[in-house]
Amino acid sequence: MVKTTLLAVAAAATLAFAPAHAQAPGSKLKVGLMLPATGTFAALGNAIENGFKLYVTEQGGKLGGRDIEYVKVDDESDPAKATDNVNKLIKRDNVDVIVGTVHSGVAMAMAKVAKDTGTLLMVPNAGADAVTGPMCAQNIFRSSFTNYQPGYAMGEVVAKKGHKNVVTITWKYAAGDESVKGFKEAFEKGGGKVLKDLSLPFPGVEFQALLTEIASLKPDAVYTFFAGGGAVKFVKDYAAAGLKGKIPLYGAGFLTDGTLEAQGADAEGLFTALHYADSLNTPRDNAFRLAYAKTYKLQPDVYAVQGYDAAQMLAVGLNAVKGDTTKKAEIAAAIRKAKIDSPRGAFTVSANHNPVQDFYLRQVVKGENKSVGIASKALVDPGRGCKM
Ligand code: BEZ
Repeated sequence: MVKTTLLAVAAAATLAFAPAHAQAPGSKLKVGLMLPATGTFAALGNAIENGFKLYVTEQGGKLGGRDIEYVKVDDESDPAKATDNVNKLIKRDNVDVIVGTVHSGVAMAMAKVAKDTGTLLMVPNAGADAVTGPMCAQNIFRSSFTNYQPGYAMGEVVAKKGHKNVVTITWKYAAGDESVKGFKEAFEKGGGKVLKDLSLPFPGVEFQALLTEIASLKPDAVYTFFAGGGAVKFVKDYAAAGLKGKIPLYGAGFLTDGTLEAQGADAEGLFTALHYADSLNTPRDNAFRLAYAKTYKLQPDVYAVQGYDAAQMLAVGLNAVKGDTTKKAEIAAAIRKAKIDSPRGAFTVSANHNPVQDFYLRQVVKGENKSVGIASKALVDPGRGCKM
């Protein structure tokens, strides 16, 4: 009885710490797409998947010499379901690599499982600072940003514009908290003061009472992090409350990315900071935008770019090891020394596996996020707490 139990424990331990399963030569590369297909971030998940698949198609349907097979999970942007979802992809579907996700809380659960099992994880959006901070690992990479980065970039801009007193408003979860923290760090360094931090639970959109509070606090400006469906509603409600034109609204660029059609005139003139903009007009971005529009009959946004670049980063790693995903150290070394030829502009990947990139200051002009300059050049995430 004791012997049987010990054997079972030993077998379970081997399974938990075994490197991702060995690959038969010529076998397909199984890619687990764990993205939101429903809820406030559904459109973001769709754009990431489109971008990822566009790059793969441009490579003849292969990465690292291997044909691709996709397995999809709708993560619903629900952190409570994240561990089960990622475990299913790894243990039931035997994926070689996981691509996901949008929501920071879900991504942190994914990173924990990826770190414990050694499964390759490419994060194509979620900015949770911890993923490339204390949870960083040789097999975890991000093609997007940390929440700190666009917040910090916008904090510098708002301070330089001469605003002194700001109110922040966001969803109460890692992405909102960290975006506001990054903003505050730069804004206060530049001489500003945050009067009050306002928040509501994710994915709530009952903004009315908070907008009334902003009106009564009368700050010089407002800084915000919202994205997807919530960002559409917030921008419309801000205007409907009579605040637009009275109290300037600034945001991490997700506020107006992939949302402008729905926001219409209410978004015109808004300033945001992000690592992508609509009219970069570089040959690389023009080619990407044309290919994306032709393939999907849609205009790309930052999420599409991040999906595309997750596939590019994966290709760099897998090409270096001829598709063998068990060679984690070699994959990491190749990605760390690469220059990723992104539609956003070329970027490198820091030692903690996060993009080192420019943040554009954008203004909404005639329904486009137009770049009006660089808010922060080659901004590096500090990667606080990362020990690889
Ligand atoms: C996040 O949860 O990290 C996130 C979601 C949407 C846009 C940007 C960040």
